[in-house]
Amino acid sequence: MSIWRVSGGKKLYGDIKIQGSKNAVLPIMAAAIITGCETELINCPRLSDVEAAMSILRYLGCKAERDGDTVYIDSRGMNRTDIPHDLMREMRSSVIFLGAILARAHKAELSYPGGCELGPRPIDLHLEALRSLGAEINEQGGSLTCRDNGLKGTGINLSFPSVGATENAMLAACGAEGETIITNAAREPDIVDLQVYLSKLGASVNGAGTSTVTISGFMPQKQVGHRVMTDRIASATALCCAATTGGSVTLKSVDPADFETVTSALENMGCDIERKSNSVRITVSNRLCSPKPVVTRPYPGFPTDAQPQLMAACLKAKGTSVFTENILDNRYRHVQELCRMGADISIVGRVAVVTGVEELLGAQVSATDLRGGAALVAAALGAKGETTIYDTGHIARGYEEFDKMLMSLGADIRYEA
Ligand code: UD1
Repeated sequence: MSIWRVSGGKKLYGDIKIQGSKNAVLPIMAAAIITGCETELINCPRLSDVEAAMSILRYLGCKAERDGDTVYIDSRGMNRTDIPHDLMREMRSSVIFLGAILARAHKAELSYPGGCELGPRPIDLHLEALRSLGAEINEQGGSLTCRDNGLKGTGINLSFPSVGATENAMLAACGAEGETIITNAAREPDIVDLQVYLSKLGASVNGAGTSTVTISGFMPQKQVGHRVMTDRIASATALCCAATTGGSVTLKSVDPADFETVTSALENMGCDIERKSNSVRITVSNRLCSPKPVVTRPYPGFPTDAQPQLMAACLKAKGTSVFTENILDNRYRHVQELCRMGADISIVGRVAVVTGVEELLGAQVSATDLRGGAALVAAALGAKGETTIYDTGHIARGYEEFDKMLMSLGADIRYEA
């Protein structure tokens, strides 16, 4: 178990480059098997979830190698259509391989990804979309056996704009004959990055970023190069860390529009924000006040993935901050850990109410999940004294060298393996 010791109270100053996006790169890595081709992914973050996706690719018979921030995938030798349980459970996004394997091989066998620490994570919308494209899917004893006699383009109306179901439908539709129109599609920037990659791979795909995505043909390409978009949640997290400590931090090579809901909440709390076309600077000199109520919603709403980190930034803010979590059932697991540090938070159903305190005190806490873990780090940076954070392995799933990035800004973090 890895442990971090954070000595709080140091203001953060400096410039940082934000990593490539975890949520964008994982579906793109799955998409790399839709045809046998070579893909060079630049700006690919070093994360345990990315390593897990590389292991799946290798198991399927593809080459997957890293050189610095570039991952090279050669899917020409793919010779399997199953993913064993131990690889499936490494990360929830593994279910995204289902649409891609079907598009390539017209049969697939996977174990059910099941729930996770954030509560039940059903995949009924993914399966419904694949069935409407013509896949026969058998669910038995925790495994999914799928085959099709040629996928056929169709209309798919998602009852909720699920990111994962939109991605799975887009990947499978690349292997279908005729046009597929996905309505009520998720509009996240990750979907736009997937469209850019799929277009380079040879798909005629349009509409990503709106509620209607159309896939209408495929001309396979042999070699694809793609630069993964910047991680909007890592950007939001860095801003929240600066908000808890004070100081002045500039995020380089980012698109401010991707995480505008988080930036405006911080601005609303009294942070001074300077947006440029590819950078954002946050400067915090005074005690913050609570933001307008924060309600998580599908993009372009406030992201559930930034809720714990913004909550950390509100703990010492003057007044009462109100959060409503609409996306995931169990996304307040960080709350009881934050309370160990002296935070005043009460939860009723989907609503969490934070009453700002004057001071947080270092304590012993445990990271319970990826974003909750990042929130504990953010809170610890703004606390008096030392906070020991256990189970920081969760953080490595989504943040590349998070500790080093914060230390480069002046944070005091020591760790034990
Ligand atoms: C969600 C977030 C995503 C975030 C991820 C990890 C949204 C819309 N999605 O993605 O940004 O990166 O958590 O924290 O904010 N659902 C079903 N059936 C399905 C698929 C989804 O009922 O087949 C429900 C989920 O239970 C959840 C909601 O739809 O309540 C979100 O769906 P989706 O975006 O696919 O969820 P995740 O991939 O978990």
